[in-house]
Amino acid sequence: MKHRIARTTLAALTLVAFATVGHAQQGKLKVGMMLPYSGTYAALGTAIENGFRLRLQEQGGKLGGREIEFVKVDDESDPAKATDNVNKLIKRDNVDVIVGTVHSGVAMAMAKAAKESGTVLIVPNAGADAVTGPMCAQNIFRSSFSNWQPAYAMGVVAAKQEGKKSAMTITWKYAAGDESTAGFKEGFEKNGGKVVKQLTVPFPNVEFQALLTEIAAAKPDAVYAFFAGGGAVKFVKDYAAAGLDKTIPLYGPGFLTDGTLDAQGDAAKGMLTTLHYADGMETPRDKSFRTAYAKEYKLQPDVYAVQGYDAAQMLAIGLNAVKGDISKKAEFASAIESAKIDSPRGTFTVGKSHNPVQDIYLRKVEGKENKMVGVAIKGLADPSRGCKL
Ligand code: PHB
Repeated sequence: MKHRIARTTLAALTLVAFATVGHAQQGKLKVGMMLPYSGTYAALGTAIENGFRLRLQEQGGKLGGREIEFVKVDDESDPAKATDNVNKLIKRDNVDVIVGTVHSGVAMAMAKAAKESGTVLIVPNAGADAVTGPMCAQNIFRSSFSNWQPAYAMGVVAAKQEGKKSAMTITWKYAAGDESTAGFKEGFEKNGGKVVKQLTVPFPNVEFQALLTEIAAAKPDAVYAFFAGGGAVKFVKDYAAAGLDKTIPLYGPGFLTDGTLDAQGDAAKGMLTTLHYADGMETPRDKSFRTAYAKEYKLQPDVYAVQGYDAAQMLAIGLNAVKGDISKKAEFASAIESAKIDSPRGTFTVGKSHNPVQDIYLRKVEGKENKMVGVAIKGLADPSRGCKL
């Protein structure tokens, strides 16, 4: 008799437990959006969220059969606040997935927390090489690029195609700037160029005058700069105002002119940059994306919007494979690893390190567009140095 009660109770408890799990799976999926909504990268954060929401809307408001609930955090591109911010999402809000962020220093703190907690993290911009290098993990994905990718390609183009022999680099002193200029140097010097000096300013400072004077005096064949958002607007305008655009070509990863051309105006005219997205690609996939984006937000998409859109696509691919049960980490990851992601930029794959293997385009500023002029390097994979999986 005693046994029977115990068994019945156990069965009832099991039923309750199953019902709870079943219910949780059909409930809303909590997505923590940790992005900069203020500061020099504010516009980038908004474009990423816009892109993500557009894809969600195209899927009828659901990904992998689950409705989405957002918890938003403004990370202010401040690495000092990053660990607290991400831990709030993981521990207090109990999010199922984190999407973020733009700034490499903040992203590295997020990757560390994600690795420790096992929470799925999709990085929709920050290029920190370490995220898909030494910090790579089954639950960490990137829908964007590594800092090395567009930078290396620009180094190759500057030396091989443009025939430049000497270059100076200038950037913000933090992981993205360091890695971007290092990538440029690698591609440039492998092809016969020489980086003669590397200049930096603290992030997010925009006092460039003293360094522009130094560039003017040194007269290198070319300058390579990594800046983005508000800082890129100011740098490109200051470079032209100093008259340097007439004498020393300014190159950069496409961030230097993406989403910024309205504000840069003529100062950016004719600039060559390399990136995994471009205006005027004329593919049906990109055209339909651009039409939908322009209709929804009344503005043209940029690379950040594409990366947000593709973060939602990657999440959907993983969730579809596990029927919405994101606790199935191995199946979730392997679905994304074997997928061909149908991006507006062109199809890409992510492989084991979870960083896009993608074409890097050469673009030229014409009017308000970063017009595609060719493919700088086809199917470029990050070397993912230090990733052991
Ligand atoms: C970065 O910090 O990794 C970063 C920020 C802005 C960009 C690109 C990379 O446009």
